[in-house]
Amino acid sequence: MLAMQPTRQRTQQPAQQPTPQPSVTSARYAKCVEVSKRVRFDIDRDVIRGRTFDFSKRFLPNGLSRVDQLAFLGSNDRRLLSQIQGRTYANIFGLVERFIAAKVLEVSREHWLGDQNALEALVRFGDEEIKHQELFRRIERMCAAGMPEGYSFVPEPNAVASAVLSKSTWAVLALTCNIELFVLAHYHQSIEAETDVSELWKDVFLYHCKEESQHAIIDELEWVRENAKLTPEARDAAVDDLIALVGAVDGILQAQAAADTLYFVEVCSRPLTAAELDAVKVTVLAAYRWQYIVSGVQSPRFRDVLGSMITPQQGERIGAALAPIVA
Ligand SMILES: [Fe+2]
Ligand SMILES: [Fe+2]
Repeated sequence: MLAMQPTRQRTQQPAQQPTPQPSVTSARYAKCVEVSKRVRFDIDRDVIRGRTFDFSKRFLPNGLSRVDQLAFLGSNDRRLLSQIQGRTYANIFGLVERFIAAKVLEVSREHWLGDQNALEALVRFGDEEIKHQELFRRIERMCAAGMPEGYSFVPEPNAVASAVLSKSTWAVLALTCNIELFVLAHYHQSIEAETDVSELWKDVFLYHCKEESQHAIIDELEWVRENAKLTPEARDAAVDDLIALVGAVDGILQAQAAADTLYFVEVCSRPLTAAELDAVKVTVLAAYRWQYIVSGVQSPRFRDVLGSMITPQQGERIGAALAPIVA
């Protein structure tokens, strides 16, 4: 089980976050603004550069797609499955960045007449997520151009965003922090050193990661700020919200893994046996759970921040909810 233990053992109350000096916090927002200006990318000029996808290359690296675990598939079919997962990666980000942009713009309200460094950092964060949605819509269309008919992306971004945004801000910021951190992990741990994946996909990961690095810092600052406002009772309810959100994400992943497996079976090079089909389905779901949940919650940074906010009992509840997903 992936227990979410607090960083300090206690029995009832979460540790008090050390209250950061306003000038120190403001300087961190200002640094994010400075770096954001320096690394800012343009979709066409920097990322796509007139290129199309090379379908003779894998899109997602094996560390994310896990297609190397399906030894009964030929190399062309393993590559195809990595490309289907890449298309879903673009669609999942188009989806999550819908609610992230909305939440970021909402929390920026609290800085309107306050710290202008924080306000600028959040406005840039929101603007970048709107641009990322456009990037991933472009990627989806470019994937579609080279793939057979029949792919479907199951969830509807606005319906998911509405459901997510109905939960407490603490829980939405926790989920967002997880997402920002797994973007960084995916680039640095899974694709940066790869030489045999699509160059264009590698650049999508690289440029996305460059802007997400600031998002992870800003999100953490906002999450800690929100946490300090909550009563113990409100925080306990927010933990329930976070557990519900993780369950909802997992529901989406289960539906999409099933849809992507069906599509793969239709377009791969040969009929699969029932056992092979089951193995593909299990592997794709495990890959999606790793990509969109586990690779973030296992990040030491995520665990430290969450652990500093919750009680041991709350950590156990979160760990129990994650156990079947991690398994
Ligand atoms: Fe993004
Ligand atoms: Fe982001």
